[in-house]
Amino acid sequence: MKRKIYWILTAFLFVISCREQATDTTQKKIATGVLAKNGVVVTAHPLATQVGIDILKKGGNAFDAAIAVQYALAVVLPKAGNIGGGGFLVYRKSDGETGSLDFREKAPSAANKDMYLDGEGNPISDLSKRGHLAAGVPGTVAGMDETYAKFGSLPFKQLMQPSIDLADQGFLLTEYDASLLNRFQDAFKEVNNGSIYLNKETPFAESDSIYHKDLAKTLSLIRDNRRDGFYKGETALLIEKEMQKGGGIITQEDLANYEATWRAPIEVNFKDGYKIISMPPSSSGGVALAQLMLGSANYDFKAMGLNTAKSIHVMTELQRRVYADRATHLGDMDFYDVPLAMLLDDTYLSERYGTISLDSATSSQEIKAGEVTTIESFETTHFSIVDKEGNAVSVTTTLNSYFGCKVLVEGAGFFLNNEMDDFSVKPGVPNQFGLVGAEANAIQPGKRMLSSMTPTIVEKEGKLFMVVGTPGGSTIITNVYQVILNVVEHGLPIQEAVNAKKIHSQWLPDQIIVEKGINSLTLDTLRTIGHEIREIEQIGRIEAILVREDGMLEGAADITRTGDATAMGY
Ligand code: DON
Repeated sequence: MKRKIYWILTAFLFVISCREQATDTTQKKIATGVLAKNGVVVTAHPLATQVGIDILKKGGNAFDAAIAVQYALAVVLPKAGNIGGGGFLVYRKSDGETGSLDFREKAPSAANKDMYLDGEGNPISDLSKRGHLAAGVPGTVAGMDETYAKFGSLPFKQLMQPSIDLADQGFLLTEYDASLLNRFQDAFKEVNNGSIYLNKETPFAESDSIYHKDLAKTLSLIRDNRRDGFYKGETALLIEKEMQKGGGIITQEDLANYEATWRAPIEVNFKDGYKIISMPPSSSGGVALAQLMLGSANYDFKAMGLNTAKSIHVMTELQRRVYADRATHLGDMDFYDVPLAMLLDDTYLSERYGTISLDSATSSQEIKAGEVTTIESFETTHFSIVDKEGNAVSVTTTLNSYFGCKVLVEGAGFFLNNEMDDFSVKPGVPNQFGLVGAEANAIQPGKRMLSSMTPTIVEKEGKLFMVVGTPGGSTIITNVYQVILNVVEHGLPIQEAVNAKKIHSQWLPDQIIVEKGINSLTLDTLRTIGHEIREIEQIGRIEAILVREDGMLEGAADITRTGDATAMGY
């Protein structure tokens, strides 16, 4: 009887998916990205992309361009580009060498496990998200310094000067830049106990000039003193003073002690000749993506079709298991013994995925579901770069929320992150992305909070094939996963793979989030087999590069979603 129901439902899904393919007209057909022979830079802001391309044209390599872009983003995209935050870098050199750099923030030395809980042990609303106590020790400047020390080729000052000029001489706001500054006017005042230089009587508008004079000064200190321009001396003092004003705990000693860490990337093979190279913990991104790719190797997504009920169901079931593992097993490897080998082991994964049924959704509800108010967040930023030698760099960097904890370091001109919220402030209590965690991701002094950032590089038959990443909090991993599937399984050109509608699920809450535009028939079918569906406007903002068969580089910025994503090549 059970078998009979199985075959009836499978046949039902098959018929539905044929109809879906015939009726799905939502996919925009913007065929190609930016094509170039020598180098491509894709970032979330045209001015940052321009800075990267200029460095490549002056003979800089992809690492030089990445450093210049990171600092340029700190100026032109202050909601996410940063020197007060952190991030991850994955690279593949033209000779095939791969590596990754962890410049994620760390908990200050005075942090402790219960620092965001009240006397009854309940989380104090917003304490880990807003204001001084939410900030981790920033890692970006150390990350860029390490990158330069290992791979830089142009003089360091040349890499810093474009961002200093942008900050000092000003630039014109895009409409999106202006709208964000307007949106956070009240928050800036509240958190900083009065107006900051970004508060203005009349709203910001497109093409307004903006200057970041204090930031220009801080960037000049970094230009002249490298990491010491940030972690020591005047800037460190200003950060400590700022902390003392608002009950924060980062000290000059925490700053001086911060180090970025080189790590072996997570690398797994996928089907015919693909290798996925991504970020190990303290990001969960690489492990989760690897688990998803290994699980996907058992399915023929091309046959199932793009965004059909069947393919969405299978992706969801894989994601459910992967995010459950994330919540339980992943945390900073320097503090917690992450069972990496087990999580990527064939036998382990076959057992995990063996319970996936094609005819019904599994329930995630053993632990109470986390309430997520919204995952429509695009605060983080990703950039992808390939140079003329074929060196590839994939960087995702963040302040966590828009403008981080909203604290602007007085006199130094930059925002601090609110990355502490990425720790599990209490086992089972969801963070702002609805992610739950446990001991592996509990707060400890000096520890890095678990991230979902997934800067990734894909090889095909031993050669560079794709560079990809996105913002989006917990949706980062599943978005990167789908872009890879869209290209290697569904055969889409990279720009279409980026444009395609995305879905996301994460174990808890037990639901599938889908971008508006996915066929309503598909959604009905998914409901029929037990999935709860929530439609949202947009998921992430991918910035990708593909090496085409003819050797041309194709830069695909996520131009169909909000923001100023821009690809340029030469
Ligand atoms: O590290 C993480 O996973 C988060 N702090 C990233 C935040 C993010 O992507 C926000 N929005 N796009």
